[in-house]
Amino acid sequence: MNKTVVETLPEGGRPAYFCPAIHPTPMKFFIDTANLDQIREAAALGVLDGVTTNPSLMAKEGISGEAAVRQHYVDICNIVDGDVSAEVIGTDFETMVREGEALAALHDNIVVKVPMIEDGVKALRYFSDKGIRTNCTLVFSAGQALLAAKAGADYVSPFIGRLDDISSDGLQLIEQIRGIYDNYMFKTEILAASVRHTMHIIDCAQIGADVMTGPLSAIKGLLKHPLTDSGLEKFLADHAKAAASVSA
Ligand code: E4P
Repeated sequence: MNKTVVETLPEGGRPAYFCPAIHPTPMKFFIDTANLDQIREAAALGVLDGVTTNPSLMAKEGISGEAAVRQHYVDICNIVDGDVSAEVIGTDFETMVREGEALAALHDNIVVKVPMIEDGVKALRYFSDKGIRTNCTLVFSAGQALLAAKAGADYVSPFIGRLDDISSDGLQLIEQIRGIYDNYMFKTEILAASVRHTMHIIDCAQIGADVMTGPLSAIKGLLKHPLTDSGLEKFLADHAKAAASVSA
């Protein structure tokens, strides 16, 4: 997604992430779930750009067995016109390659999710060379994010909520990665993962994360404000009062 604009920046130029006129693309919203009803609800809002899943989220929906898991990914792809991350289970290079190729063959929207481990880095390079899109998951440091970008990952997923959980600063990591990627114009997109609440989304947007993935509650939380509710209540009451006085 960044590709076109980044390539057209002047030589040595840096993208200005706080200037909407120059930012490569608007921030993408992914939903972090394997629940089809929640995916449908988010898609119906008209702001959904993709879905991330992981083995825990699939298990939470009771999806198990290779055939059922693959069918579930196809079902998700049929709801959302956007990237759907499907995670490999294997932890050695050969298994990750075999699983990733099978997942990528399911649908054009599938992005193969690969863990940040040594064989995972090799697999990222393999998939990148083959034109299979990837999302490097379980990223908790700038060094890991740099490695993922060097290996050709399309997305890198720093888990900000899990860092916050252990009194580390998840948003600071997003800032660090943004700086490193901009220094060298890496095309890897920063997918802020493990988002827990609306402020995470707003902070990630201010920093310039390319994508955020979070629960439906965090996405819908963005639309809430008590002054909106009370303002609307007053507008409707005034409208009803005026209508009543005309018909009286
Ligand atoms: C997404 O790709 C990650 O798997 C997910 O955001 C992890 O979130 P959690 O920390 O809430 O489990």
